[in-house]
Amino acid sequence: MQAGRLFFYKLLTDYLRVKSMYKRKINIIICGCAAGLALIVGVAATGCAKAEYSLPQEAPAETAAAETETAGSGAAEAETAGSAEAGAVSLTRADIKYLNVEAPSAASADGVITAAEWEAVYPEIAVSMGNNAENEYHVSYLEESPYLVNIYEGYGFAKDYESARGHSYTLDDVAATARPHPTANCLTCKTPNFTKLVNDQGVGAYTMDFNEVHAQMQETVSCYNCHANEAGNGGQLVVTHSYVHEALGDNVDTFDPSIMVCGQCHIEYYFVPETKEAMMPYSSLETMGPEAVYAYYQNIGFSDWTQESTGAQMLKVQHPEFETYMNGKHAKFLKCADCHMPIEQSESGTVYHSHKLQSPLENETLLETCAACHGDTDMVEFVHGIQDEITARETEVGTKLSDFKDKLAEANQSGSKSEDELNEIRSIYREAQWYFDYCYVENSEGAHNSQLSRDCLDRSEELIESGMAYFA
Ligand code: HEC
Ligand code: HEC
Ligand code: HEC
Ligand code: HEC
Repeated sequence: MQAGRLFFYKLLTDYLRVKSMYKRKINIIICGCAAGLALIVGVAATGCAKAEYSLPQEAPAETAAAETETAGSGAAEAETAGSAEAGAVSLTRADIKYLNVEAPSAASADGVITAAEWEAVYPEIAVSMGNNAENEYHVSYLEESPYLVNIYEGYGFAKDYESARGHSYTLDDVAATARPHPTANCLTCKTPNFTKLVNDQGVGAYTMDFNEVHAQMQETVSCYNCHANEAGNGGQLVVTHSYVHEALGDNVDTFDPSIMVCGQCHIEYYFVPETKEAMMPYSSLETMGPEAVYAYYQNIGFSDWTQESTGAQMLKVQHPEFETYMNGKHAKFLKCADCHMPIEQSESGTVYHSHKLQSPLENETLLETCAACHGDTDMVEFVHGIQDEITARETEVGTKLSDFKDKLAEANQSGSKSEDELNEIRSIYREAQWYFDYCYVENSEGAHNSQLSRDCLDRSEELIESGMAYFA
């Protein structure tokens, strides 16, 4: 049954691709088509398969209609109330009314409208965003995977490497880390006030003193990061981070803004050595895979640090959720919000995306949405199965990588190999670390794209073996 449904959605995906869903203003009603296909693949068409792919910023036009409907006809209201009462019908994007409302005025000197200021207009959204504080659990990766200390030797991540937690903690966690953070560039993905500072004052902001700038920052990740000050405009999404525009140029429009706003921070990036400016190492969907990005770094001769014991020029990957997801199986028909922001209804009837970003495995509403395609598969078990497999492989490959590093360090210090030979081995080690890290640091642990995770670990292992051959 699951296979049938997934096959159906693959067909749907191809159909949508042809219709180029990421072009604006598309709202494809495919009920008839879905029913037909469903019969073919033997899926009982449960309810109306209305593929709602319209982007929120396009919604005001529809909203106007929706507004008139709600205001003008008691019937429409009764219907909404009815469906809420029934409870069994799960809410979809189509239930959200994207109203145009007047934005509050910003009290802050930098002009960023804060969550507290938006709360008067969008109480449910602001309160739900505040609930990100409930996600406070975090662990030390260095304790969980001790081999990392050896691999990252000589770099800040060997000192302190905590798992991520909710958006409410960004300013605390960036200040608390034992990794060195002399300049303000570390605030790039932590607060809208820094985003605004860069937008207003240019890349000079990146080299300002960390402590001085941190003291002025008001908000953790907030409305401005994803909406600029435009949330009143039907929840319009805006890519506010300047490096995204600089790196992607016009290609920024080839990404669904709902995915791209998360991709502003949940990405692989580097700091340009001269300016400390944050930058994405690719310019398009085609150039964002691990091979292409590695080639990019080779090309510009970039490294994050030189490792003393091995003499190798090393790279550290950062949380490439966006890149991993975009090359995965859901990217063509789901947005980050579909699995991380449940659609909820308040007591007064407002339907909205909860802005508490959470694991779909820990939220019943989100888990229910999986069933449309995954049927009655136990999703928690399914996802954990993938994660257990990937995590076990990480330990296996990471341990081998650490052993390889020891051999190289020994050779580097003993003088048992020529400099040419050492350089060959160093470059193999650099690349093996790259592919290992690309998988390890991606926060879904294989759930976003298990094939990419497997491929990276296999590639790393092959490289380690070819490097170890020098010591046979
Ligand atoms: C302005 C940068 C920024 C944007 C935009 C952003 N995030 Fe985050 N996100 C972070 C940072 C930084 C953390 C880690 C915070 C910490 O640990 O202190 C994080 C943490 C998370 C976590 C919790 C991770 C965990 O392991 O508990 C989730 C889930 C998440 N983000 C999802 C999203 C989604 C979905 C979007 C888009 C709707 C998004 N984020 C947009 C910066 C951002
Ligand atoms: C098809 C559903 C789906 C979509 C769409 C999706 N994710 Fe995830 N994501 C997951 C699952 C499943 C996990 C693993 C959750 C767990 O381990 O509890 C996860 C984990 C994460 C985590 C780690 C946090 C945590 O709670 O473990 C982050 C951060 C994240 N996703 C960000 C994103 C971003 C950014 C996007 C869009 C580019 C995205 N996700 C799209 C399903 C999805
Ligand atoms: C991390 C990024 C992020 C932040 C921070 C954020 N939003 Fe959103 N917002 C989104 C995404 C993603 C959607 C869903 C868009 C879609 O339909 O795919 C959304 C949707 C909305 C909508 C449309 C209605 C709905 O629920 O879908 C409104 C209005 C809105 N946000 C207001 C706000 C306000 C006000 C704040 C601050 C209190 C805020 N947002 C903070 C990303 C963000
Ligand atoms: C619109 C349809 C659709 C929805 C909704 C959906 N999925 Fe999927 N999912 C798919 C398809 C299609 C595949 C690919 C199946 C294959 O290739 O065998 C897939 C595969 C997966 C995989 C394996 C990915 C990999 O790379 O190995 C995971 C994990 C997953 N889904 C989790 C979820 C979770 C969790 C939810 C709900 C929060 C969800 N999915 C909702 C269609 C969907």
